[in-house]
Amino acid sequence: MQRSVRLKSFELVARDINDVDVDLLHALSISVRWPHRPKDWDLLRRAGHGIVAVDGIGRVFGSAMWFPQGDDFATIGLVITTPRAQAQGGGRWLMDQVLEQCGDRNLALNATHAAYPLYVSLGFTNEAIVYMRQGQVQQTLPPLPVLDGELSELPSSGRLGEITELDARAFGTNRARLLALLSEDASIATLSRGGEVVGYSMCREFGRGHVIGPTIARNDQDAVHLTAVHLKKLAGRFARVDTREKDGVFAEFLQQSGLGIAETVTTMSKGRRFLNRESNGPWVYGLASHAWS
Ligand SMILES: CC(C)(COP(=O)(O)OP(=O)(O)OC[C@H]1O[C@@H](n2cnc3c(N)ncnc32)[C@H](O)[C@@H]1OP(=O)(O)O)[C@@H](O)C(=O)NCCC(=O)NCCS
Repeated sequence: MQRSVRLKSFELVARDINDVDVDLLHALSISVRWPHRPKDWDLLRRAGHGIVAVDGIGRVFGSAMWFPQGDDFATIGLVITTPRAQAQGGGRWLMDQVLEQCGDRNLALNATHAAYPLYVSLGFTNEAIVYMRQGQVQQTLPPLPVLDGELSELPSSGRLGEITELDARAFGTNRARLLALLSEDASIATLSRGGEVVGYSMCREFGRGHVIGPTIARNDQDAVHLTAVHLKKLAGRFARVDTREKDGVFAEFLQQSGLGIAETVTTMSKGRRFLNRESNGPWVYGLASHAWS
């Protein structure tokens, strides 16, 4: 694998993403109008691996990250080339190296429109559309469906085991390590029926406000309640939910709560199929983030 690349007049080499100052990563994501704060990059770096393309004086021109989840699966994200160096082969060069690092793992990612042709050419295939919904949360939420079960808050010291197991059924892979990291700074709601946890949701600060996800539920009504718990506390503030629900009770609820569709991305996979929804089984209604699929 070629470890350096020439983009216009810049000779770039690949470095580990942990070797650069977080402010340079922040500047990179701002250059493509992404909302990540330095704190968000810190969490991403704790959660996964990655590379950056740097020039001889340490300027960062691109990034790509991957996140091992379980033994044989990984998600890819934070694939960025700074606008002045785009369309010169940098994105492909970064991806080739990340794919090499991922080895024979099955892979999934959420492709923006700009990156879609690149991933198709690398052998990724389409699975679903993700709707990025965001906006200022309404002061009064729309009427909620009847609650079936009991909502509670999971203490931060608390029983992550139960939600991790449920999450693995919905997500398809046990992502205990990622959930433990997210839980450090998230408020977590659970929904129980007959003493069994049947859904959960996390809410944490991200970008311009708060993101609600992962949200795991068995049906739209449960997902609405698990999301509303957090939205109630965010009235008038900026919130985001990434979901694959195009329409239905949950999508409608988000719309009426002030979270309109800002953008769509395409969930793609390489290797084994990623999304496998069981009828009546737990399902990912809200994504942890684009990078964690
Ligand atoms: C997506 C992105 C990383 C691509 O980076 P890049 O350095 O421009 O990519 P490359 O130059 O290696 O091009 C890769 C492929 O994209 C396509 N492409 C790139 N620039 C293009 C352009 N101006 N017009 C049409 N297609 C283009 C081509 O299919 C190209 O394939 P080729 O190698 O066969 O020509 C970059 O546009 C970017 O950072 N965008 C904003 C952030 C983003 O959306 N990231 C993706 C997250 S999933």
